Amino acid sequence: MDLLVNNAGVQYSHCVTDLLDEDRSAALRTEIALNLEVPIRLTWSLIDRIARPGGAIVNVTSLTALHPKTSAPVYSATKAGLKSFTRALRLQVEPMGVYVMEAVPPLVDTAMTTGRGKGKISP
Ligand SMILES: NC(=O)c1ccc[n+]([C@@H]2O[C@H](COP(=O)([O-])OP(=O)(O)OC[C@H]3O[C@@H](n4cnc5c(N)ncnc54)[C@H](OP(=O)(O)O)[C@@H]3O)[C@@H](O)[C@H]2O)c1
Repeated sequence: MDLLVNNAGVQYSHCVTDLLDEDRSAALRTEIALNLEVPIRLTWSLIDRIARPGGAIVNVTSLTALHPKTSAPVYSATKAGLKSFTRALRLQVEPMGVYVMEAVPPLVDTAMTTGRGKGKISP
């Protein structure tokens, strides 16, 4: 294995005064797991196969990691967490010759941003 790209992600809108019912709790679990826990677990599970000179890991974060979006506090927090994990991971595996990169897309016109934002670029 040469390359792991942690790209899958979801963004849900939340307001902390909303009722924390079953559906919202499930959404929170999915958002935190998919955006943060899964990239960490995939990296951990696959690092033995990637850890050699030229191996690479790309984590897709977001500008919301630095500038949180009011309507997406959980998404923003997961992306900030992934940014931090990426930086520490880079320090750990760079001596083995593994490249660890963070992709920070601008606002892109995908399913995730349907009905959100203006001035989107095409994928
Ligand atoms: N669009 C933007 O403006 C923007 C900006 C900054 C960062 N990002 C980041 O870019 C990445 C890609 O987002 P996108 O804009 O391309 O969104 P998208 O069109 O909604 O695509 C989301 C991707 O995540 C996968 N996915 C969703 N739920 C999953 C699950 N439970 N298990 C496995 N895979 C799942 C989807 O797979 P299926 O197609 O199989 O459902 C799809 O490939 C995300 O990490 C997002 O946070 C996007």
